[in-house]
Amino acid sequence: MPNDVSRRDFARLAGLAALGTGGATATAQERPVTNEPAAPGRHFPHDFVWGTATSSYQIEGAARADGRGPSIWDVFTHAPGHIEDGSTGDVACDHYHRYKDDVGLIKELGCKAYRFSIAWPRLFPDGGSTPNPKGLDFYNRLVDELLANGIAPYATLYHWDLPQALQERLGGWRSAETAKAFADYAGYVAEHLSDRVKTIFTVNECGRFIPFGYGLGIDAPGLKLPQGEVNQARHHVALAHGLAVQAIRARGRAGTQVGMAENITACVPAIDTPENIRAAEIATRELNAGFLNVILEGRYTDAFLAWAGKDAPKFTADELKIISAPVDFVGLNIYAPQAYVVASDNAPGFQALPMPSSFPHMSSPWLLVGPEIAYWVPRFAAKIWDLKTIYITENGTSSDDKVSPDGKIHDLDRVMYLRNYLAQLQRATAEGVPVKGYFLWSLMDNFEWVFGYRQRFGVYHVDFDTQARTPKLSASFYRHVIEKNALLA
Ligand code: NOJ
Repeated sequence: MPNDVSRRDFARLAGLAALGTGGATATAQERPVTNEPAAPGRHFPHDFVWGTATSSYQIEGAARADGRGPSIWDVFTHAPGHIEDGSTGDVACDHYHRYKDDVGLIKELGCKAYRFSIAWPRLFPDGGSTPNPKGLDFYNRLVDELLANGIAPYATLYHWDLPQALQERLGGWRSAETAKAFADYAGYVAEHLSDRVKTIFTVNECGRFIPFGYGLGIDAPGLKLPQGEVNQARHHVALAHGLAVQAIRARGRAGTQVGMAENITACVPAIDTPENIRAAEIATRELNAGFLNVILEGRYTDAFLAWAGKDAPKFTADELKIISAPVDFVGLNIYAPQAYVVASDNAPGFQALPMPSSFPHMSSPWLLVGPEIAYWVPRFAAKIWDLKTIYITENGTSSDDKVSPDGKIHDLDRVMYLRNYLAQLQRATAEGVPVKGYFLWSLMDNFEWVFGYRQRFGVYHVDFDTQARTPKLSASFYRHVIEKNALLA
């Protein structure tokens, strides 16, 4: 916009003022779900699971309540200089005490599923084998409340809050012993909750917490290890996943569904020619070789081992067998495109193009806008690994949404983002890609890790002084989609 033309002038000149852009009459937040039929061909499958997602450290608070032990994130946030706004998850959304009201919010959206995570240090405060029954009680109460409201609980076992004791005793994921401790914890959860929790995710986003926590020192536990040790730590997480699958099968109810939720490296053909589509498929397999592919294929790819060279993880054939224990589904967290790909003559057959600095992003600079990943990523994953059930375990965006003088939150950027990503996801399901459900991240604003409370991802706004929750425009949008099981236009 030229400097000498103000935003208001620009709107007037463009004829927008006459359209009443500033006029606050009835907003979509107040309007009931429209009776308008969805456009033909815009529906999701009839049994599609609509949900929303959160994680323990990001929402629960009550960091010392009822015998909970410290996690690596408690220690990390309390050390100065790690979190942008100097905050911690000590109180967060105080969900530990307000869970009943929060279940009410999920219900208001019309969600029939809720993905939450269990805090390992609530159940095993020192990471050992002595359980803390009061910790389990909280999740019993939460699960019962969800079920009483017709919402299916989907539980994640590890969303980054490792018991601090395991970091101190074993070096956290640097040790295979942590993988064994995780399996014991997973078995315990399965034994006590799988009568009501039918779907369990082992670990969330290994592709984030290992490089950021062990390589870059950005996330807890804040280590900057050489690449070989990072690769070894990732291998231990894959092992933990496999051991947990076995433990859940051994100790949980028959039929308990088990998988992982991973921030798959999202590859897209730069221009969708058959050659580039093939190249993006190859890239999806290779750029996810260190975790998803070894789990789903039972081996590290040749290209991955060649790339890692002397830094490749050390592993045994037995470990690969455990790691690749069959899963019931794969959960994919999708936010930003990571590689726009073209075909290449060089093995293994793809080139990722550099991203221009002007590529559009949401309010979080890392969150590049690429709705097409919601189509390509599940399509490639289903093809490469012959998957029968995929969940989009997270998708959503931050927004600089503010409470307007009228008390409402007009997060139009989030609505734009969701509309576009869901349109691409709908296209995938219409073509038969087996995506069975979608969990919007996030139910409410919460502790966004190193960004503290400054990046808001919720469809409910949280006032962290009063803990008041207020639905944003996007909550209304999502409710419409769920109600219609479709995009309207
Ligand atoms: C993925 C992580 O699982 C979640 O904890 C985080 O808040 C969102 N991405 C948004 O960054």
